[in-house]
Amino acid sequence: MSTQTGSEPEIAKAREMLRALSSARQVYALYPDGHPKRREAAQELLSLVLELREAKGGGHPVLFVSEGNFYYGTTLLAWESLTLYRLAQAMGDAGVQSLEFLPNPTEADTDALVRLLTGDERGRDVLVAVAVNRAGPSSRPEELQRGIAELLRNYAVGLELLRETAARLLAGRPADMDATVRLTEHLADLIAADTAQALLLTTIKSYDEYTYHHMVNVCILSLAIARASGLSKDQAVVLGIGGLLHDVGKVRVPQEILQHDGALDEEQWRLIQRHPVDGAGLVLITSRNAFHPAVATVLEHHAAFDGSGYPRLSGHRAPSLASRIVAVADCFDAITSKRSYRKPEERRQALSLIQAGAGRSFDPRVVRTFVRLMGIFPVGSLVQISTGEVGVVVRNHDRLLARPTIRLVLDAHGNAAEPIEIDLAEQAADGSFRWTVTRSLDPVDVGIDMLPLLASGRLDSPPAAAPPGLVHEPAPSEEPPPGYVDAHHEVTADLPDLPVDRDAAPPMPD
Ligand SMILES: [Fe+2]
Ligand SMILES: [Fe+2]
Repeated sequence: MSTQTGSEPEIAKAREMLRALSSARQVYALYPDGHPKRREAAQELLSLVLELREAKGGGHPVLFVSEGNFYYGTTLLAWESLTLYRLAQAMGDAGVQSLEFLPNPTEADTDALVRLLTGDERGRDVLVAVAVNRAGPSSRPEELQRGIAELLRNYAVGLELLRETAARLLAGRPADMDATVRLTEHLADLIAADTAQALLLTTIKSYDEYTYHHMVNVCILSLAIARASGLSKDQAVVLGIGGLLHDVGKVRVPQEILQHDGALDEEQWRLIQRHPVDGAGLVLITSRNAFHPAVATVLEHHAAFDGSGYPRLSGHRAPSLASRIVAVADCFDAITSKRSYRKPEERRQALSLIQAGAGRSFDPRVVRTFVRLMGIFPVGSLVQISTGEVGVVVRNHDRLLARPTIRLVLDAHGNAAEPIEIDLAEQAADGSFRWTVTRSLDPVDVGIDMLPLLASGRLDSPPAAAPPGLVHEPAPSEEPPPGYVDAHHEVTADLPDLPVDRDAAPPMPD
């Protein structure tokens, strides 16, 4: 039985196989018994199981599902854990904790496996070359990955919740606000337990589901700022809900516009810039509480501190504190993502752009808190140290801000390194520091994808091919893309004065 971390091709095959299993489930749900499409899906799955066994070379490949996350041996399959949430749920429902792929599998095995995962219990008795729950606890994921796994699971729940919310809203049905509150509360607890780990997770970007990933990231970042500002958990949760839902109005923007490659025209920008007003309307309808402060946050997240931005807030002094916090989190996540007209900003550079907007676009006190929270080298950024090795920042110290703890990614020759952690604040016997940051690096330039790296210390890439770009409004301190139109005047023309409690959160402590 394998307890080892698999080789690169083996893990790639395991991922492919999982995706085939997930699609096969969908096919089985759509087509009746005996349908050729079912056969096709079972055969496809069988060929991937065979290829996986071959890639492994010897022994039996083992796949685990634990608390909603997939593991191949001891390697957390982060991308699949995020994107194949329904498959993980189906495995949980069927009581499957591990699948061990034994020699000589047949189509009858893969057919039975898919049946089992679509609720057909007869599948269980037919399985011969796939052992369910035979791989025991000794093969369980390493302790090291537990913290990130719990966060990842909640991240996946957040994505699923947003997918469902979008579908409900588009169908004219109310969103599930209770589930939204529960998830935000849970995220707030996880952030309180380990803020750095949670911030690392916000380096996850997706090009297929950019908006949902962005909304979860903004929720996490907003909750972290709220915590660093000394707000109570209740206040943080209210604010986090606003962060989670802030771009919900984009359900009304056609997907071709959101994923448009190249310059947008005036009409397209105008449509995009309706999303705060549309979103606030949707949350108003669905929250069953017109005074819910999340409504104000959704409405105001592009309204600037100095009264500029959009929509223009009539009769109000400034956006609410929650909106000012979410605005900073929103901008940081947007500019560190790839947009159709610009490459992602490196996290350190993004922080400077936010600082440049303090006092105009952003509340200077929120910016100050954010900068203190992120440190000189924000968690998730890449740095090169005096030995020539490269690492990802995983934790910052309260003092010695230029000496974070890093996890090694590349050795001095640019090859993949063992993912060990180095505390740059560590001193040698003579009192000198053993390592120093020599420069910060851009993951895009180095060609590194952060998610698998964070989850397992491995340098492999996500399976999904990234389309060329995404659309998000430019940061206030950035040069706007060609064709950019700030159409907020038209947007605000019919803006109702919302009956929300704008002072639900107290003033920011200095
Ligand atoms: Fe937005
Ligand atoms: Fe946003």
